[in-house]
Amino acid sequence: MPDSPQPTSMDLLHSPKDIAKMVFSLGARIDSDYAHLVSENNRLMLLGVLNGAFIFMADLARAISLPLEVDFIRLSSYEDQTASNNHVVMLKAPERSLSDRHILIVEDIADCGLTLAWLRGFLAQKRPASLKIAVAVDKTERREVPVPLDYTGFEIDEGFLVGYGLDYAQSYRNLPGIYRLRFAEPPS
Ligand code: IMP
Ligand code: MG
Repeated sequence: MPDSPQPTSMDLLHSPKDIAKMVFSLGARIDSDYAHLVSENNRLMLLGVLNGAFIFMADLARAISLPLEVDFIRLSSYEDQTASNNHVVMLKAPERSLSDRHILIVEDIADCGLTLAWLRGFLAQKRPASLKIAVAVDKTERREVPVPLDYTGFEIDEGFLVGYGLDYAQSYRNLPGIYRLRFAEPPS
């Protein structure tokens, strides 16, 4: 975007090797937690949040050996400053039926928590058999709404991160590591 401030540099936080280890260990935990719940007739449903989760979703799906299906939802959140309110808008709905399913939300990052809190509420109305959340990164400092994160890859206090699906103005999603951007002046 032309009016986005340009980052001055970026620091590597997690290498592709760290990420692979993290994903492998989450996959093993998920396999063990869901082993008694899912089967070929009742597959785990991974619900990826587009766009950011696309890479984590692809890796996590392959780190899980239990039978699973994938579906995607696309959300956009807008800060409404006048009403000091945040709105989440669904740009693409899930396509599979979600009732009675074991749903695992797969998201790139939890920041304020609004997106995941909204999504949890939305999915709870579909009466799933169970509903859990996996995030690649839990960014804690700006959390406004508490969200139960069942599977967290990495935890970090603050900063703007890119890579491994995370973007800044739609750039950098394809970086295989996770980086923190530095700015002369922090972006708002
Ligand atoms: P929340 O509602 O503030 O938790 O918003 C989470 C969404 O904001 C994520 O799904 C990301 O798309 C985006 N986001 C939050 N922090 C970052 C970041 O550090 N880098 C890239 N995107 C981010
Ligand atoms: Mg996202």
